[in-house]
Amino acid sequence: MTTATAKSTADILIAKAQDRSALIGIVGLGYVGLPLAMEFARVGFRVLGFDVSKPVVDALGAGRSHVQDVASAEVVGFAKAGKFAATTDLSRLREPDVVSICVPTPLSKTKDPDVSYVLAATNAVKRTLRRGQLIVLESTTYPGTTRELILPALEETGLHVGEDFFLAFSPERVDPGNSKWNTHNTPKVVGGLTAACRRVAMAVYEPAIERLVPMSSTEAAELVKILENTFRSVNIGLVNEMAIVCDKLGVDVWEVIEAAATKPFGFMKFTPGPGVGGHCIPLDPHYLAWKMRTLNYRTRFIELAGEINAAMPEYWVGHVVDRLNEQGRAARGSKVLVVGVAYKKDIDDIRESPALDVIRLLQRRGAAVSYHDPHVRKLKDEAIDLSSLPLTPETVSTADCVVIVTDHSDVDYALVERCARLVVDTRNALATVRQRRQAR
Ligand SMILES: NC(=O)c1ccc[n+]([C@@H]2O[C@H](COP(=O)([O-])OP(=O)(O)OC[C@H]3O[C@@H](n4cnc5c(N)ncnc54)[C@H](O)[C@@H]3O)[C@@H](O)[C@H]2O)c1
Repeated sequence: MTTATAKSTADILIAKAQDRSALIGIVGLGYVGLPLAMEFARVGFRVLGFDVSKPVVDALGAGRSHVQDVASAEVVGFAKAGKFAATTDLSRLREPDVVSICVPTPLSKTKDPDVSYVLAATNAVKRTLRRGQLIVLESTTYPGTTRELILPALEETGLHVGEDFFLAFSPERVDPGNSKWNTHNTPKVVGGLTAACRRVAMAVYEPAIERLVPMSSTEAAELVKILENTFRSVNIGLVNEMAIVCDKLGVDVWEVIEAAATKPFGFMKFTPGPGVGGHCIPLDPHYLAWKMRTLNYRTRFIELAGEINAAMPEYWVGHVVDRLNEQGRAARGSKVLVVGVAYKKDIDDIRESPALDVIRLLQRRGAAVSYHDPHVRKLKDEAIDLSSLPLTPETVSTADCVVIVTDHSDVDYALVERCARLVVDTRNALATVRQRRQAR
């Protein structure tokens, strides 16, 4: 392979990105992949989405988005304009010039990384890899994944990275439900396996993303994402511990945090709650912890924050039991209404939601648990099988205790305050609404 040819392979792809003739393939059309697909389509690329789930592909084919941040009308519009199509046929991975991998990276039961989805996607890409393709991993993972797992597999084809094909890591930072920061205006970190890989990847993302942050290596880019989520996990762990400290001291933790947040420098506000949920914060730090264990190093901050955050549902259920006890009631046989089951406000995602643990722990103590969540109509997880109740004076007043687990914006907290016999508020939602009312 001559340098001249190597240059031309990269330059051909860069030119295709610049004139939007490159076909973009997105593997995994979930919370990350679908918004990214829409962003590429919006700036004029044709996008071919791949997913192993037939229901996901069929729904998209019928013009229905299953991701809250992507409107169905948008899917329909791009499909009609010939800018977006979805398929389960992974043999078509030969067609796109760019393949962006956005598949899940969960943990195994023993909290080790489960990279089976990344491996499956890599093998699918490998089967059809051709000269001139850029492959980008977007899934959150431990430092070293792109170089140690994906590169060797792709080079088994006989093609060489940086010359025949290009490989990069660019972590997705999407924050579902965030109306200000989206895939387009959130700066995007890009690390290439080689300088040419980074150059090509930057050229491909450049039209679709407002600001790119080039990194010196894929490992550095992989670590950025883990640092961001570890930072959140550790700080949430700290304020959760502060909530327990304040409880024991008889001090209002929310008052303390609000006052600390008036310091214009050196403090960043985090709020306590029932624990952490979602696809990122409870999982990602463990990817780094696992990697560091292989290097004989224990990441103590990660483990401690994980421990404190994971214990919060138990802490809050203890509160419910104590408050019921004060009213002469046992948890067994009590009716408990959980308000909000999504892992955070204003979204419909229940993955790793602390509400699931809260419900399980209450049920284990014999409570009759029901829930209300305007975003989650049905709740099915292991032994939990419930449907959202409407929030009415009757459902609220017949509960022995109402537990606010997720502080969705569109919940009538005034109704809860007016009708509930007892409220345990893990998010300070009632006080926030009260303050807003007083400020008016
Ligand atoms: N959800 C978030 O807020 C968020 C934010 C930033 C980063 N991430 C990371 O992005 C990655 C994807 O997360 P997500 O939330 O979009 O997951 P998701 O479960 O919403 O979507 C993943 C999709 O990939 C599909 N899939 C699985 N294996 C496949 C394969 N081999 N080939 C093709 N499709 C396959 C699934 O059917 C699913 O539709 C994860 O690594 C996650 O940690 C998620």
